[in-house]
Amino acid sequence: MPVLLVFGLFVVIATAHNITFLEVPRYGDPHQEANLICHYMNDHDDPALHSVKWYRGNNEIFRFTPGQQPPTRTFNSTAGGVSKGSCNLNSCAISVVLPRNYNTKLSFTCEVSTEGPRFAVVKQTKNLTVAVTLKEDPVITGIPGTVQLGEDVLLNCTTQPAMPPANIVWFIDGRPDRTELGLLNNTQVSSANDFGLRSSWRSLRLRVATSRGFMALRCEATQPTWPPYTRATNATLVVARSPHLSMFTAAGSSSTILEATVLIVAMCISVHIFSNYSALSEV
Ligand SMILES: *[C@@H]1O[C@H](CO)[C@@H](O)[C@H](O)[C@H]1NC(C)=O
Ligand SMILES: *[C@@H]1O[C@H](CO)[C@@H](O)[C@H](O)[C@H]1NC(C)=O
Ligand SMILES: *[C@@H]1O[C@H](CO)[C@@H](O)[C@H](O)[C@H]1NC(C)=O
Ligand SMILES: *[C@@H]1O[C@H](CO)[C@@H](O)[C@H](O)[C@H]1NC(C)=O
Ligand SMILES: *[C@@H]1O[C@H](CO)[C@@H](O)[C@H](O)[C@H]1NC(C)=O
Ligand SMILES: *[C@@H]1O[C@H](CO)[C@@H](O)[C@H](O)[C@H]1NC(C)=O
Ligand SMILES: *[C@@H]1O[C@H](CO)[C@@H](O)[C@H](O)[C@H]1NC(C)=O
Repeated sequence: MPVLLVFGLFVVIATAHNITFLEVPRYGDPHQEANLICHYMNDHDDPALHSVKWYRGNNEIFRFTPGQQPPTRTFNSTAGGVSKGSCNLNSCAISVVLPRNYNTKLSFTCEVSTEGPRFAVVKQTKNLTVAVTLKEDPVITGIPGTVQLGEDVLLNCTTQPAMPPANIVWFIDGRPDRTELGLLNNTQVSSANDFGLRSSWRSLRLRVATSRGFMALRCEATQPTWPPYTRATNATLVVARSPHLSMFTAAGSSSTILEATVLIVAMCISVHIFSNYSALSEV
């Protein structure tokens, strides 16, 4: 009786292969083929692998059947399907031609089935969004060496070419910027380059006013994909007071003394730029 129980347990565990990892990039550049790999394993040699099938959406695009000749078959390859495949008893890799439409979301499923008697099937699905994501953090330009308190500073934040183009938001001390005027308050998008990609830029007109000694700036560029793809750059304006006390005597009235006090606090600004990026995790 105990022998039968142990044997029954063994049969249950050994009837299915296991998909250990499904490699599908979250974003796919339509200028290149996407490489997808399904990794699977079977703890015991028996039963054997029957087939591996790849689906795009609900349509089968590729099949690997080690017991048949030829072992691999592609389906729907004309409509942007599989260009090549290479499979063995542990993994199955395919290259897929992507559609040209940015923000198209594709789902890819790897389905592994095991030989009889049960023909157990396991599968896993992952999504891919057609996009050329930002390869570098946005760049902040226009930061002056020194500024006076009350002075206006015009900064610019620019991204590398990407598609779909990024939207840029400036943050001042953690709050979204609301100081921009007129045309400057929108993300500007360049015309398409030779690869059809567009860079984005957005200006920030900032009046230097802080009692804290520094201002934390952040430029956040987000591509409207799903999930959204964000890269950001921080810049910290560190204000160092330098005591030019003799200049206080130049002021005549009390109101100009106050003004001068504010203005003559010479500021040395050192700028630390931190780079950072994040892709919001898929839900
Ligand atoms: C597949 O592998 C995972 C961990 O790698 C394990 O928890 C699970 O039980 C395995 N499933 C089968 C059917 O072997
Ligand atoms: C090929 O794709 C079309 C739609 O794109 C679908 O209707 C058809 O069933 C697919 N064929 C196979 C064999 O999956
Ligand atoms: C893929 O996208 C579909 C909706 O199009 C969603 O329901 C599903 O949860 C996504 N899958 C993964 C693994 O994120
Ligand atoms: C910001 O940078 C972009 C790209 O380098 C440039 O085209 C644009 O004129 C700049 N804007 C300002 C206000 O300097
Ligand atoms: C950049 O600034 C934001 C707040 O503005 C902060 O949450 C983040 O940690 C900073 N990143 C780095 C790398 O300093
Ligand atoms: C700039 O922002 C203001 C307020 O947010 C808005 O009323 C105005 O239309 C914007 N300018 C442009 C050119 O979009
Ligand atoms: C980027 O910022 C996030 C929080 O916004 C933080 O968790 C992460 O560690 C930062 N990465 C780097 C490389 O600084």
